[in-house]
Formats: sequence, structure tokens, C-alpha cells
Amino acid sequence: MTWVPRASEIAREAGLRLREFFAQGVETEYKGDADLVTVADRTSEKLIRERLAKAFPDHGVYGEEGTRERMEGEYRWYVDPLDGTTNFAHGFPHFCVSMGLEQRPAGISADQDGVLVAGVIYDPMRDELYSAERGRGAWLDSKPLHATRIPVLAESLVSTGFPSRKRHDSPNIHFYHEFTLRSHGVRRAGSAALDLAYVASGRLEAFWEFNLNPWDTAAGILLVEEAGGRVTDFAGAACPLSSREVLASNGLIHTELVDLFKNMFAGRDLSPIPTPEQFARKRRESAAVAAPAH
Ligand code: IPD
Ligand code: CA
Ligand code: CA
Repeated sequence: MTWVPRASEIAREAGLRLREFFAQGVETEYKGDADLVTVADRTSEKLIRERLAKAFPDHGVYGEEGTRERMEGEYRWYVDPLDGTTNFAHGFPHFCVSMGLEQRPAGISADQDGVLVAGVIYDPMRDELYSAERGRGAWLDSKPLHATRIPVLAESLVSTGFPSRKRHDSPNIHFYHEFTLRSHGVRRAGSAALDLAYVASGRLEAFWEFNLNPWDTAAGILLVEEAGGRVTDFAGAACPLSSREVLASNGLIHTELVDLFKNMFAGRDLSPIPTPEQFARKRRESAAVAAPAH
């Protein structure tokens, strides 16, 4: 492996700092309505930025908390210093550090995507280190990763996430509902990077989300692909780093998922759901049948 050994050390060091902050508790600030940030996010990003500059002096760094360094270089790290900040801030122990490396051939324009070549995700609460390099497989610590062989959505466990900005614009609750009815269940665990790592490691069959950023997905996309899974946009087309739509799966159920998205976007395949008012009326009616008035 070319980049993974050093990047893994950096992700571990940052993750251990997060663990310390988690144990001591930190104050929460707001970046937006429900978009949280803490001193842990900033400290982790600073640590990663400094370590990357030493380890790979010519690599660029693009971090969620504002780092934009050496953006003209051939290589660029997309860094989420704490993926799962809402969990972290509430003491819910599910979050990680995510670092994905993109190779950008000379002459590529600023809005074009290069190729993902390495990725590292570290979950400090479980001490699990996921890593991948293009063409060399994906790993959980020293164990090779393989997406599952489940062939249908009906036998799958899947996951999604919801945006913390512009929440009223998101249609995802409809997809959450439909996938819940058609699978073994939908998890909303609160870390997109770990969701992708879980598809790669066979703990989930699929993951989708609207409006993610490259720092959430860069490492996880490569993990899923190297574990034999597939990642596209919701229409089944290649998913560039700049894509706002991510659909990842074990590969075998991918076509079924793309068809479901297509049908739902066309207004088909929507299962009816009772409104709370309809539900309450039905409950009153059944109570009246069970205990008729004298
Ligand atoms: C968030 C998490 C969450 C996803 C949100 C992301 P953050 O990242 O990945 O699972 O649903 O869309 O913004 O803010 O904790 O780094
Ligand atoms: Ca994130
Ligand atoms: Ca983050």
C-alpha cells in the first residue's frame, strides 16, 4: 500500500483525540439550524492537516471545517475530521474520521473530478480501521472486506441519512418509508462515512443519501468499490465525487434499487401511509367496537 499506512496512523491519532473529547464532553455550536460543530471537529481537522502536510508535503487538503491547501496539486485529500457530529454532541457513540485521496491528472479543470485512489475511515469507539487503495482491495484492520451476496432488497438491511441544512427541501422521508416496507429495515445511524464502510464490510446491503459532500463520501465510495460493491447516482450513472446523490450497494441489488428510485421519482410505487389523524380516527373506531357504549 502506498498511502494507507501513513494515512491510517493519522486517522487513528485524530480518532483518539475525538475519543478524549467525547469522554470529557464538549460544548456545541451551531453552523446552521441543526448543523452542529464542536471544538473536537476543529481540533481533529487541524491535526489531520498538519500531519498530512508532513507526510505528503505536495498533497492538497480539502476539509469540512474550512481547510483548502495546495488545491493545485496532483493529489488531494478530502477530510471529514468528525463524521457524525450530532451523535458526538449528544454522547451517542457512533462517529468516525474519514480521509479519501483523489488523484487529479495534470490539466484537469477545477470542476472536474479525478480518480479516488485511497481511503481510510477510523471508528475510535470500536477501534475499527477501514482502508482501501484502488486495485488493492478494502480492509477492516487486517481482514479483507467483501460486500454481501444478498440478491434482493426484501432480504436486505439498508441505511440512509438526512441533511442538517435545508431540511424542509428533502424528499428522503418518502424513500425511508418505501425502503422500510420493502427491506428488513432502514438504519439512520448518523455517519455517512460509516454507513459506506458498513456496506463494504457486509453489515449493510445498501446506503443512499441526498446532498452529501466529498468529505463524507470520498473514502467510503472507494471502500465499497474495492469490496466488490457498486456506487452510482440514483439513476445508476457513475457517481463523481461532486455528485450530490450517492447510492451504494453490494452490487447484486443495485438494479432493483435504481428501478425503485426511477419509479418513485415518476410518482409510481408509493405505498399509502395513514396520516396521524386517520390513524387516530381508526383507533377511536376500534375502541368503540371493542367497548360499545351502554
Ligand atoms: C453528517 C453525517 C450524517 C449525514 C449528514 C452529514 P457531519 O456529517 O454523515 O450521517 O446524514 O448528511 O452531514 O455533519 O456529522 O460531518
Ligand atoms: Ca460528514
Ligand atoms: Ca464532519
